[in-house]
Amino acid sequence: MEKIAFLGLGRMGLPMARRLAAAGHPLTVWNRSPGRADGLAEAATAAEAVRGADVVVTMLSDPAAVAEVAGAIAARLAPGTLWIDMSSIGPAATAGLRERLPDGVGLVDAPVLGSVGPAATGDLVVYAGGEDADLDRARPVLEHLGRVRRCGGPGSGAALKVVVIGAIVASVAVVGEVLAVAEELGLSQELAREALTAGPLAGVVARAHSADSDFPVRLAAKDLALAGGGPVLSAAREVLLADPSIAERDLSAVVGSLRRR
Ligand SMILES: NC(=O)c1ccc[n+]([C@@H]2O[C@H](COP(=O)([O-])OP(=O)(O)OC[C@H]3O[C@@H](n4cnc5c(N)ncnc54)[C@H](OP(=O)(O)O)[C@@H]3O)[C@@H](O)[C@H]2O)c1
Repeated sequence: MEKIAFLGLGRMGLPMARRLAAAGHPLTVWNRSPGRADGLAEAATAAEAVRGADVVVTMLSDPAAVAEVAGAIAARLAPGTLWIDMSSIGPAATAGLRERLPDGVGLVDAPVLGSVGPAATGDLVVYAGGEDADLDRARPVLEHLGRVRRCGGPGSGAALKVVVIGAIVASVAVVGEVLAVAEELGLSQELAREALTAGPLAGVVARAHSADSDFPVRLAAKDLALAGGGPVLSAAREVLLADPSIAERDLSAVVGSLRRR
């Protein structure tokens, strides 16, 4: 089995790394802030973690984090290494990462849909983009983490993630706002929620009230920024950023935040 270096043990990265270890992959992990490895073999630096690795998996917060880690490890990767970046960083940062890699190092962009529960049970949806040979090689690793949707060439997984999460995050903000409108109009939350759930927004209403997701508003706002400057998604981003007190809480916190405004 491929020897894996897993970099980034945040709320998503740690359960994902655990799954790869449980599947039998020789695994070395690294996190910027030490002490997050929870019994997994931890390296002191990112460079040490990737030494001798066949596959490098990154699950980091944003483009700046991936760029910083790339600065520490890219030049050290031997030809034949495959880097699977599962962070949500969008296609432009993914292209920037590709440019920094030495010849012979492959890159698959493989961001995921699904929060901490699916990360622990291997039920994420993985949007994978890359060269065919790299996607073939990444698949057995990624299948331990979820259902792999092969999107196409380099950057296509990163691009599809931006599209799908942009729609989800903006729609959750819409549901939060119309529930606040319902309150102003004297309707009960239960009645409004039930009526919305009976229509095409059912899945969004469920996400807006999810009790077991842990996707910080800070990261949701980052994803809306990655989707560009369109009017609707930009407005949703402003809504998320307007209440700094919910930045570290799950996206569902925007519903209560809008009712309080
Ligand atoms: N949470 C979700 O439900 C969810 C679902 C799908 C996709 N995602 C995406 O998955 C990615 C990870 O999300 P998460 O929820 O696991 O985030 P998180 O809990 O905030 O973890 C972020 C990770 O990035 C590391 N990091 C941040 N800046 C860094 C830097 N400059 N250098 C090195 N490491 C750095 C953090 O290290 P420290 O511990 O040192 O801060 C941590 O390991 C994000 O792109 C997010 O949008 C999240």
